[in-house]
Amino acid sequence: MKNNLQYFALLFKKKIMLNFEFKNPTKIHFGKGLIAKIADEIPADAKVMMLYGGGSIKTNGIYEQVKAALKNFEVIEFGGIPANPEYDVLIKALNIIKSEKINYLLAVGGGSVIDGTKFLSSAALYNGENPWDILQKGIRTEVGMPFGVVLTLPATGSEMNSGAVISRAENKQKLGMGGPGLFPQFSILDPQVVASIPPRQIANGIVDAYTHVLEQYMTYPIGALLQDRISESIMQTLMEIAPSIMKNPAEYDTACEFMWSCTMALNGLIQKGVPTDWTVHAIGHELTVLYGIDHARTLAIIAPSHYRYNFESKKEKLAQYAERVWKINEGTTEEKAYAAINKMEAFFHSLGMETKLSKYSENYRDAAPFIFKTFTERGMTGIGEHKNISPDDVVKIVEMSY
Ligand code: NZQ
Ligand code: ZN
Repeated sequence: MKNNLQYFALLFKKKIMLNFEFKNPTKIHFGKGLIAKIADEIPADAKVMMLYGGGSIKTNGIYEQVKAALKNFEVIEFGGIPANPEYDVLIKALNIIKSEKINYLLAVGGGSVIDGTKFLSSAALYNGENPWDILQKGIRTEVGMPFGVVLTLPATGSEMNSGAVISRAENKQKLGMGGPGLFPQFSILDPQVVASIPPRQIANGIVDAYTHVLEQYMTYPIGALLQDRISESIMQTLMEIAPSIMKNPAEYDTACEFMWSCTMALNGLIQKGVPTDWTVHAIGHELTVLYGIDHARTLAIIAPSHYRYNFESKKEKLAQYAERVWKINEGTTEEKAYAAINKMEAFFHSLGMETKLSKYSENYRDAAPFIFKTFTERGMTGIGEHKNISPDDVVKIVEMSY
């Protein structure tokens, strides 16, 4: 039956929703004052490692709330995980996990701390000799050490997904990992944490979440009306709240909308049954490796060029985005599609985000040859929803973003 349906769909060039599985086991506690809930979620006899970043939690009251909730647990702290979590730092935590027989991890931070914790969850139970192989060889994590999350920065969706991205400065690499064993057991989403986030990171969060939706939406039309409309509504919500959350991150009701939109953008729901792209992220990670540019800003640089370069294969969805999200109803499909890319870029600018690589580094011309070499070496010879974007195409996209 399924095969027949797909055969007829092909015959009549009608696209139908793809088969899928969906399981997301992460328990969410969303709302004011819920950090204390971690005490109910972590097993009473657990030996916990509490992981955090460069110290923001010590200035905004989050550290004290977590410590109070953990008062009856045996806890070892590991702070200092940098943005774009660094392998060498994580290995120090791994050694302590092993020597101290830690059996539960608690990430208190944004995407970097959560991703670092996911790496440790995997590496702590990994039997191989070299934990770098998990990233280098793309080993999926079926079972990891259990961990929970206190989210301090809405952006990545890492608090409700099973992926992570780890950097290794020494090798000039930033690589992804994942697997069903890497969902957090629980995540505390208290929108009050947004109050202390500086405007640059708020802008990053909005653009990262927005681009997550784009990567799962801006492909070609397929019979997935619901996924499309959920995607469009996440983008519309982010656009609606952007000016007020940028101006006043302490506004609780807006912080709620911001936080939940970011989680929903990458918790797996909107990618089910539809083709996905992820070219913007693949190229963006290399810009972080080369120039240390914040993750979200790399996306703002690449997305406009990517959509302009791959216009023909994406124009129908671009026009749908134009009509439904930007309310552009005049003109041909092509005119609407182009207008939407311009609007998207203007939206990034409205958040104070530059969209040209030359605004971030004088050495911007190094980018295209570096990325060409990296993608070729890794065998990334056909990416995007049609698996037809070659390293030569990537060079053109990157050069368009100069
Ligand atoms: O380190 P501290 O001192 O805590 O400061 C952080 C950091 O400097 C600060 N911050 C966090 N919460 C704060 C706060 N400052 C004030 N008040 C708060 N409440 O913000 C800075 C950035 O934090 P980081 O965790 O690096 O940001 P983000 O959440 O944007 O994470 C970026 C990382 O996540 C990866 C990115 O590649 C990058 O490495 N991603 C992970 C994904 C995933 N796992 O699904 C998907 C994404 O596409 C992305 O690739
Ligand atoms: Zn992202």
